[in-house]
Amino acid sequence: MRFGTLLLFALPLAAVAQRKPVAARVDSVLSLMTLPELVGQTNQYNGFWNATGPMPAGNEWVEQRVKALKQGGVGSVLNVAGVDQVRALQKVAVEETRLGIPLIFGLDVIHGYQTLSPIPLAEAASWDLEAIKRSARAAALEATADGINWTFAPMVDISRDPRWGRVMEGAGEDPYLGARIAEARVRGFQGDNLSDPTTLAACLKHFAGYGFPVSGKDYHTTDYSAHTLYNWILPPFEAGVKAGAATVMNAFSAANGIPATGDSALVWGELRRRMGFGGVLVSDWGSIGEMIPHGYARDLRDAADRALAAGCDIDMESDAYLRHGVELARSHPADSLRFREAARRILTLKFELGLMDDPYRYCRATKPDVRAEAYDMAVRSSVLLQNKGVLPIGSVLVGLTGPMAAEKNGVLGNWRVSAKDQSAQSLAEAVEGRCWTYAASAPHSVGQEAFHAELTLNAADTKANDAALKALRKHDVLVLAVGEHGYESGEGRSRASLRLSAVQQDLIRKAYKTGKPVVLVVYAGRPLVLEPWIQEGAAAILWAWQPGTLGGQAVVDVLCGKSEPYGRLPMTFPRSEGQIPIHYDAFSTGRPGPKSEVFWSHYTDESNAPAYPFGYGLSYTSFAYENLQVREAPGGWSATVTVRNTGARSGSDVVQLYVGREGNGQIYPVKSLKAFKRVVLEPGSSAAVELELPREALTQRDGQGRSIPFTHGTLRITVGPNSAEGLTWTTNLIP
Ligand code: NOJ
Repeated sequence: MRFGTLLLFALPLAAVAQRKPVAARVDSVLSLMTLPELVGQTNQYNGFWNATGPMPAGNEWVEQRVKALKQGGVGSVLNVAGVDQVRALQKVAVEETRLGIPLIFGLDVIHGYQTLSPIPLAEAASWDLEAIKRSARAAALEATADGINWTFAPMVDISRDPRWGRVMEGAGEDPYLGARIAEARVRGFQGDNLSDPTTLAACLKHFAGYGFPVSGKDYHTTDYSAHTLYNWILPPFEAGVKAGAATVMNAFSAANGIPATGDSALVWGELRRRMGFGGVLVSDWGSIGEMIPHGYARDLRDAADRALAAGCDIDMESDAYLRHGVELARSHPADSLRFREAARRILTLKFELGLMDDPYRYCRATKPDVRAEAYDMAVRSSVLLQNKGVLPIGSVLVGLTGPMAAEKNGVLGNWRVSAKDQSAQSLAEAVEGRCWTYAASAPHSVGQEAFHAELTLNAADTKANDAALKALRKHDVLVLAVGEHGYESGEGRSRASLRLSAVQQDLIRKAYKTGKPVVLVVYAGRPLVLEPWIQEGAAAILWAWQPGTLGGQAVVDVLCGKSEPYGRLPMTFPRSEGQIPIHYDAFSTGRPGPKSEVFWSHYTDESNAPAYPFGYGLSYTSFAYENLQVREAPGGWSATVTVRNTGARSGSDVVQLYVGREGNGQIYPVKSLKAFKRVVLEPGSSAAVELELPREALTQRDGQGRSIPFTHGTLRITVGPNSAEGLTWTTNLIP
């Protein structure tokens, strides 16, 4: 008896069932299921054949997977997209399996689907929660029209290590900003109602600690204290869970001697019990099987057993549950129960997504146009790091060069499963028709550009650099588009050196020698290290990240002053790689210094200061912060500061509130972000900006996970334009 058939032929029963609460409907489906079918729901496969064409004959691997699908051995798939493909595969699940339970279609819709927004780290730089929510909503609109109903986003991993390529996918280093962005993204993807066919189920990932890989290498063991776990790593997950995230994904990494996919205490203690997460927990790709090379599980059966005990509901591509699940369940009553509970959560999600009532509801004929949202986000994400008055560029002759200037691929970012190659509008295209001339410089990379392959850099061929600068010798200002290709950051793309390539440095050096003002537009998936000579020689530096499909126009509009530079850094920029991990919310240490002798916490060959601090970003105008007043308010404090636009243009600034705490029986970061608000000001005008600090925001968890309220000691409130500047108010709390 198929579930689809049941709907067709037992309509009165189905109608009654539809009025029942989801839990009761899930129970009735569960009661129809055999053990292999229960286990089948927990198996997730990557797209395995072109479902609209004939099955490839003689391909045993595909045949085995199709067989599993028809036997009810697949509950969800990933990387199957497009109305035709989704419909065809769903038809097999609905019409050719015994119960006809539909599949969920998951995909990495990370910063857009076919139309790409800037990378998530760039979006975080906007500090604009509404814009971030709109961007996630736009991605959901576009992806759901193509049959997708689940995105593996947002990544909420806090990281302080720009060597780790995946920082491009997160919201940076700060747990408060990270938590607010996690909420915004979850709400943007999911909307108010998961069964609305224009929304996607969100997935908070990677649970937990993946952003702390030892030595910055992706997939590596992670190392962090319990204190770091509770106060930095978990808060964005908690915020995402509270915002209603339907799913969570395990991390690839291991900590404290246990791979995250097998970490029962973390999942049951923190995610399920403390945060109250009742949704679906999915493994990362193959992360159940990877517990074997981690040295943790004996074999795939053991790995399946451990992952199941650790609450992992869906096995993404390890084939561990499908191969060993039935046998495990038959030999251990606890495992049998666990599969049933996992299937219950998965079926609940299927009901909530509306798939049980209409398996094809996400396949719409028309695609929405979301380019306006992608442009808007690109305008809001670039960060002006330096400006000696050359920006915004007025009516002068501009020479544009640099390997990223005509780039239509690398500027899309790393996660673009469904976007077409070469589909971004380049900077060179966007300036056509203006008084700008583009001249090609030496290429940045040579050969293949692909998601799964290393990018090969042009290591030495600088010939075109000389030619480009010669062609632009009559121009007043040079704009150099340099940086990283999208395939230099992201998964599997850790870097030991964060410098611009030698060929790009050659171009910059030669451009500086012309004596013309040189504007650097840096495209990157992470903070990079710009040597002092590069910073000092630049007339301006605009950090454009990887701005996505509409990035060309957005960057030109910022350079020319049609839009203001809006972004502020969500990660600290190091002066050199040796400072990493570097973050603004560090502890004071017992020897903070600076001291005239050597015995304090510092480097002998580098400053402790970053190149650019967290929260930093310039505007085309300037702001003064005056008159900080703090008063006790019900439940906390209220800080008011006057911000004055002291420049000649209108503009906006992100007013940031940080706290410092001492003397409460624990150590606290020197500064922690606790609130922020954007203020828009006309030249000469000022505004009183009020920020709330709830008392519970001062609570910190100790190494045992207990919440310790801040009841006594020194409290410092600093309000300013970034984590390194501001006005400070201090009080002593007496218990
Ligand atoms: C591996 C990545 O770590 C994860 O973030 C992603 O969602 C899955 N692959 C699926 O593509």
